[in-house]
Amino acid sequence: MQASLNTQLLVVDDEQYICNIIVEALASEKYDVVAFTDPREAIKHIKSHPIDLVLTDLVMGELSGVQVLESTLENHENAIVILMTAYPTVEMAIAVLKRGAYDFLIKPFKLELLRATIKRGLAHQKVLRENLHLRGQLEFLKAANTVAPNVDLREYLTLVLRSCITEFSAVGACVFEIDPGSGVIVKRICETKSDLDTRYLLDESILKQFSGRRSPKPIINSERVVIDGREISRILISKPIFIGSKFHGVINLQIMSPFERVTPGQLDILTILANSAASAIARKRLYQDLRASYLQAIRALANAIEARDEYTAGHTDRVIGLASMVARELGWGEKQVHALIMGCTLHDIGKIGVPDGILNKPSGLTGEERRRMMRHPALGLKIIRGINLFKPSIPYIIGHHERYDGSGYPKGLKGEDVPVEGRLLAVVDTFDAIMSDRPYRPAASLNVAVGELLKGRGTQFDPHLVDKFLMILKSGKIDLKELYGSDVDVSCLDEMPFTETAPA
Ligand SMILES: [Fe+2]
Repeated sequence: MQASLNTQLLVVDDEQYICNIIVEALASEKYDVVAFTDPREAIKHIKSHPIDLVLTDLVMGELSGVQVLESTLENHENAIVILMTAYPTVEMAIAVLKRGAYDFLIKPFKLELLRATIKRGLAHQKVLRENLHLRGQLEFLKAANTVAPNVDLREYLTLVLRSCITEFSAVGACVFEIDPGSGVIVKRICETKSDLDTRYLLDESILKQFSGRRSPKPIINSERVVIDGREISRILISKPIFIGSKFHGVINLQIMSPFERVTPGQLDILTILANSAASAIARKRLYQDLRASYLQAIRALANAIEARDEYTAGHTDRVIGLASMVARELGWGEKQVHALIMGCTLHDIGKIGVPDGILNKPSGLTGEERRRMMRHPALGLKIIRGINLFKPSIPYIIGHHERYDGSGYPKGLKGEDVPVEGRLLAVVDTFDAIMSDRPYRPAASLNVAVGELLKGRGTQFDPHLVDKFLMILKSGKIDLKELYGSDVDVSCLDEMPFTETAPA
């Protein structure tokens, strides 16, 4: 069953001919009009149907128009009630206006005056309802401003759903995001107000009804159901989300109400919220595409460094793998691990400014050559500083040659003043360098590499991070034979009595 979007009018007058005249006079307007001569019947209808405007006679036997007025305002927020009377007094006018009536008509009245009063009342109602919608939207915008949709789309879509729930007094809302290529659901977020049986709300069959459709119009279905002995309407509104001309998903809303009612104003707000969700999804996608492009660019830069220094081939990937493993063991979040991948990839970007002759020199460097080599963190910082997206890599670039005892470079920072990113990279970078062939020496054994880390523990390296790394090596979580060749002798790890220490 479809819920009506027409304005709902109710007429009550104990004179049948007056009801007939009014119904006839309003026939050409876009109203659904029902008329009653019995005010008791009218009140019964008011309690179980959507009502926008009531025209009621003031004096009708035992029941008066005031009771119709009260019942209307009790059941329908912002309903307009116009009283009709043949015996007006100032006291009566004041009394009914005080009780919330919008206006009154003095019988006999001209039909033009009746139509004009109804239109004025409905225009007043529209303003009241729009104010309510705007207030709701203001709350949404305030909350939305605190969430960056390109960073946390789930949080943003949850806000959209909460706003939908408030706007429609719904019991639940959900969003289905589909992959436009395959039509498979890639995300489903659900918000419900109570212990709702979500079968109806989460029914995925609605998606089929939208496939191939180009219209952003919602589908509204409603049915009368009996819950706890009370008959109410269960309304499901399904609003499609389009990105450009492509169907991307659906916002479903479930409303349980005594009335089958959805107003055009509410649907306008739903359109705004669905568009806001579409923009957020599009921004997130753009952000992800941009990020992927940037990562490709980073990769190209890292490859350029590795291509110049043939002995470091694969170094970046191995360092990323080792550092990520330690980071996860340290409980770093997804965002930090993304920064780590970028930082480990770019940490030696400054070597672009180091001449080939120094970079690939097979024997010991002269003092001047060493100084030029030591400029690579500062040079890397200079290269990266202007690119916002690369900024998370800065602590890796500037911190990976600092030493825990303060004797490193470029700044000579000490202990915890060295960014943890730099301290972590220093451990795994050194380990990988020892385990790999270098221009001036062949790869050393695992025993030597572990020995070097232990030797530098507390001087060159953060002791806690050395212990953490060695514990991970000992646990076998890192496949050293895959990284450094099948001839790596891992037996030394069994013989070493490592114990993990807490960070300083
Ligand atoms: Fe370096």
